[in-house]
Amino acid sequence: MAWALSEQQFILSGTRQVFGTACSVFLKPSFGPRCWFTNCWIFLNKIALGEKVKQNKRPESFSYLANLISLWAGLIFIIFCQIIFHNFMRPENLKTKIFLDSGDPNETREAIKILGFLDGQTTNPTLMARNPEAMARLERGEKFSQKEVYDFYRNVVEKISAMIPGGSISIEVYADAKTPAKEMLAQAKEMASWISNAHIKLPITIVGLEAASEVIKAGARVNMTLCFSQVQAAAVYAATRGAKKGDVFVSPFVGRLDDHDENGMDLIKNILKMYEAGDGHVEALVASVRNIEHFLWSLALGADIITAPLKILKEWTENGSIVSSYDYAYDAKNLKEITYQDININGFWQNFNLFHELTDKGLERFSQDWNALIG
Ligand code: E4P
Repeated sequence: MAWALSEQQFILSGTRQVFGTACSVFLKPSFGPRCWFTNCWIFLNKIALGEKVKQNKRPESFSYLANLISLWAGLIFIIFCQIIFHNFMRPENLKTKIFLDSGDPNETREAIKILGFLDGQTTNPTLMARNPEAMARLERGEKFSQKEVYDFYRNVVEKISAMIPGGSISIEVYADAKTPAKEMLAQAKEMASWISNAHIKLPITIVGLEAASEVIKAGARVNMTLCFSQVQAAAVYAATRGAKKGDVFVSPFVGRLDDHDENGMDLIKNILKMYEAGDGHVEALVASVRNIEHFLWSLALGADIITAPLKILKEWTENGSIVSSYDYAYDAKNLKEITYQDININGFWQNFNLFHELTDKGLERFSQDWNALIG
């Protein structure tokens, strides 16, 4: 049998393309259904064309080439439309990327619906333990095995990734005070293979930074978590020098600093100021956002990224998705000021004092929540 597609196949494929494109463009501004149709469309075309490749048959006819070209043109059109829609939905003056902080794909769907766009999502062991499916399982008295818990995590991030294929999804390695860099690296390698848009979360500790520099060398991306000091942010910069912009995030935890009676938002301000002297390869991701004031002040300061729980994203949109400016009056109440330090970000990261008690406490809490899932 010749390689050429029959006329019916050609027409069918073309129809699928037009249908898929139309669905992906005109459906309501939720990436979910659009992606679903896009994926179906690609899958059907793969069946029509890819199977022939498997059979080792070679393209011989104009009809095949025409189909292939129109397939690619259709795909490019869809991507183009998604970008236009994405940009159309976000406030014009919004420079900061908005992430959802959650381990629940249903919340991803909801966030996309209310915002009209979503730039990414952060997960962590505590958020995974709060995933409704995981909680229901535990309530039934069924715990996960070591393998099952990673399969579960993978399944969750795959679902999220399908909804925001162009965004970033942070996946956190399991780490306690004793986890060596080698083990973090092995987990990072495995997690980076789950989805194509992962940032691997590693703690800002000596071993965490050792692992991070290897992850970066291997061409993957990192989100350095549990940041509570400007020195830690300087060390992240120094340890990942040479990385491309977008490959490294640093996550200062503002809410937990507030809980500690320090003004967490000062740390954001200080890190952004310190990074002005750098090459821009590390992006500051405001994490542990507890209220709309944190969110609005982060926008006003020009943070690169904010990750926030769904309820705060809702509050923001209900109030008109306003992008606050630098004159926004942030009320730090009685929280202690965190003063700016002059730090040379081009030094050796090994020379920085990485210790912060909240980083250690954070590791402990994440590992406890993760271990509670395993029986
Ligand atoms: C996100 O990357 C962080 O893990 C998260 O924002 C921490 O939030 P929490 O301090 O409310 O646990």
